[in-house]
Amino acid sequence: MSKLKHEKTIIRHGSDILSCKGMKTEKKCIQHGTFSVYDHSLYVTSMCLTISKKLHLRVNERSLVRGALLHDFFLYDWHEPTKANRIHGFTHPGIALRNAEKVFKLNKIEKNMIKRHMFPLTPVPPRYKESAVLCVADKICATFETVDGFKTKIKKKIRRVGSNA
Ligand SMILES: [Fe+2]
Ligand SMILES: [Fe+2]
Repeated sequence: MSKLKHEKTIIRHGSDILSCKGMKTEKKCIQHGTFSVYDHSLYVTSMCLTISKKLHLRVNERSLVRGALLHDFFLYDWHEPTKANRIHGFTHPGIALRNAEKVFKLNKIEKNMIKRHMFPLTPVPPRYKESAVLCVADKICATFETVDGFKTKIKKKIRRVGSNA
């Protein structure tokens, strides 16, 4: 089985995040199709690193990994048909940031990444390169997560990281 791209880098910068209690909740919450929020977050983090390397961007690699891993740290099932969940797309970045700040000390790049990752749905644009990369990676991954043949392959790689972290 080949590895998830950038697996070592993700574990080096984010092993404390991967093993935290909130991530156990993320494993139980579905994001898209059969992808849990945890699977999605790992996939997005890997995609962020791929994009930044392909474009030769000078990024803060540690912040890129940590902000991406925590970008959807909202910790509830957004598919439940509640009034609050109807506006999940707009509200979850703020909720994720509040939750993440309770557990981890975040720098300004990581905070901005989490808070602005839904741009342009939420109108304030990202401030840093890392936040912009996350915006793009999140949308690419969300699209691939719904494509059948692809999602099985990437999910196997993601599950492997979970057991190595
Ligand atoms: Fe999100
Ligand atoms: Fe996301």
